[in-house]
Amino acid sequence: MVKDLASTTVGVFRVEGKLYAYENTCPHQGGPVCQGLLIPRVEEKLNASQGAEGFRFDESDPRLVCPWHGFEFSVKTGCHPGKAEIRLTQFEVEEEGELVYVRV
Ligand code: FES
Repeated sequence: MVKDLASTTVGVFRVEGKLYAYENTCPHQGGPVCQGLLIPRVEEKLNASQGAEGFRFDESDPRLVCPWHGFEFSVKTGCHPGKAEIRLTQFEVEEEGELVYVRV
């Protein structure tokens, strides 16, 4: 879900029951990152000789893909998987009953 809160647009995501909230601004060039695709983490299976044996998909650690240039971010950490210093701006989020509070 993406919502305007005050002067900030925020994306809120639920993963395994926990909420995560991020500013809808990509650290690369400012794209609307929270409106990108959500995909499972992709892992390549390797055999003992380091040969590829296909892919598996980890739904427990989804990735948010910025629609402008394809940078990926872990929804759980807000970090780019290859360069952790490239990260989304995260906000505190709480849930009380049916209400969700985001501190911006
Ligand atoms: S602005 Fe998001 S990947 Fe470039």
